[in-house]
Amino acid sequence: MLNRFLQNTRKPKGFLGRFMLRGMNKGHAALSQWAVSYLPLKKEARILDVGCGGGANVAALLTKVPEGGVDGLDYSAESVAWSRKVNAKNLGPRCTITQGDVAHLPYSDHSLDVVTAFETIYFWPDLTAAFREIQRVLKPGGTFFICCESQDSTDTTWTDRIQGMTVYRGDDLKERLEALGFHNVSQHHHPKGWFALTATR
Ligand SMILES: C[S@@+](CC[C@H](N)C(=O)[O-])C[C@H]1O[C@@H](n2cnc3c(N)ncnc32)[C@H](O)[C@@H]1O
Repeated sequence: MLNRFLQNTRKPKGFLGRFMLRGMNKGHAALSQWAVSYLPLKKEARILDVGCGGGANVAALLTKVPEGGVDGLDYSAESVAWSRKVNAKNLGPRCTITQGDVAHLPYSDHSLDVVTAFETIYFWPDLTAAFREIQRVLKPGGTFFICCESQDSTDTTWTDRIQGMTVYRGDDLKERLEALGFHNVSQHHHPKGWFALTATR
């Protein structure tokens, strides 16, 4: 039963999925707040939050870009519905929530200032291809931001239980990003093992 519930971290679905989304919005708040402190944002920035889950990060980021906007994208219909509910009052030109896959972002080349990925890269089946797609939609000088609860690839607590989950070391992420041409890759580590990374396109 617990293992069945945990699969909803990868793609929330149905009643258990909604329960998970509510839990992640609360449970990830401290992690996200810490990580976002390393994300420089201009008040007019246009942001895409990939793997937006329950939409709490979209809501928090919206408060930081009063003259810009924050879109959310997630491949789970349940996540999209929950995110839309959480961000209902802001939906419109400043905020859209779309169902889609990181492999094919519905954005034109060089159209975004910032792409964020909170607690989601673990589940992307082709990480380098996803990074390339994010690079395509970012403006030159734009920022890619990653936040993960863990970057210890030797700890199998969650990967043993959640299908299709991979934990990446920060240095592995840095190498992949630099190989694609991202620069200024900077990593931040919290005593609890939390991890944040920013990279410039
Ligand atoms: C652990 S949840 C994190 C949700 C939210 N970002 C947070 O921090 O609370 C991972 C989310 O990533 C989404 N996701 C996983 N793979 C994805 C992909 N290939 N494209 C888009 N979304 C994806 C899942 O549906 C899920 O909502």
